[in-house]
Amino acid sequence: MSNPTGYPELDALLPRLEAIPTLDADALASELIAVLGRKNGALTEALKSVASLPLERRKAYGAAVNRLKASFEAAFVARREVLDDQRRRLQSAGLDLTMPARRRWLGAEHPVTRVMDEIVEIFRGIGFTVAVGPEVETDWYNFTALNFPADHPAMDMHDTLYVDAPPIPGEQGGRLLLRTHTSPVQIRAMLESAPPVRVVIPGLVYRNDPFDASHAPAFSQIEGLAVDEGISFVDLKATLVHFAHHFFSPSTKVRFRPSFFPFTEPSAEMDVECQLCHGSGCPACKGTGWMEILGCGMVHPAVLEYSGVDSELYTGWAFGMGPHRITMLRYGIPDIRLLYEGDMRFLEQFVPGNPRSVAVAGPGSHSA
Ligand code: DAH
Repeated sequence: MSNPTGYPELDALLPRLEAIPTLDADALASELIAVLGRKNGALTEALKSVASLPLERRKAYGAAVNRLKASFEAAFVARREVLDDQRRRLQSAGLDLTMPARRRWLGAEHPVTRVMDEIVEIFRGIGFTVAVGPEVETDWYNFTALNFPADHPAMDMHDTLYVDAPPIPGEQGGRLLLRTHTSPVQIRAMLESAPPVRVVIPGLVYRNDPFDASHAPAFSQIEGLAVDEGISFVDLKATLVHFAHHFFSPSTKVRFRPSFFPFTEPSAEMDVECQLCHGSGCPACKGTGWMEILGCGMVHPAVLEYSGVDSELYTGWAFGMGPHRITMLRYGIPDIRLLYEGDMRFLEQFVPGNPRSVAVAGPGSHSA
């Protein structure tokens, strides 16, 4: 304990003098200014006040202030030496305390996984179950049973890798291939259980596509299928509009355009109002105000028959959508390759609770 000076305003500084050997470099620098700083230093102020004291007190008080100042100066110098010495020793031991610490990463789901889970949940909420099928598929499930006529031009978009392996005994079809869509799982679902059928089918599919800003040779799809007595295009429309309103927002506009798929008749494509410009037209929607999100249609009777379903009794509707694309639409991601690269600077924007994250739940979140 330092000796009391006999002056309360000076003694009030003694605990600070004693704390100096505990300060780190930054605290030491600011304490030096707070005590001895030329402008507002606590001791500098005391020294200045000496001149205005009556002569008989001036000498003794001045001496006390100067002694305390000398003690502070000595303590600052001593502490600085200790800190310098510590730093030198750590540096020569190969430790650099000025090096930034390594960041701790928060694990989280990939944005495409989140979107797929969210889509599946919306359909589960209205009575659909989840089915999956093999990524290595036979040509029968991938094409024949889906009513692709051999060598039909519709197959041009479905070029894929064929697997050089003998046919699987007891399995329909000859050649094995990497499936080009999740639609073959429609056939598997119907062969497995008689109507009513209501399934959603998430999975990866493969195509001979370039890896560019809007294509990837492996990407996700979610298929949907509903088969029952008396199912009509009204069910298709109402269900897909329900989906769009829950996934995007309750006020999102949708439209259906006629299209062609071998396995549906009639066939359509569904567009949603562009999520970036909300319909006014922007580069992302090529000025149309609309974004295509899925193909759909009434299941072709031939497909029902291939799957052992009586097409006189039952009807059905189906859809197929691309969650990679939908993730891009929702978050305004300009290049699909960002979703494959695993670059943390991109991905951490989607970590819930991260201050830099985008609105991960999305505007139409149903998980209220
Ligand atoms: N399988 C189609 C494709 O990959 C997408 C599709 C369109 C699936 C219409 C469907 C459907 O079930 O009804 O291009």
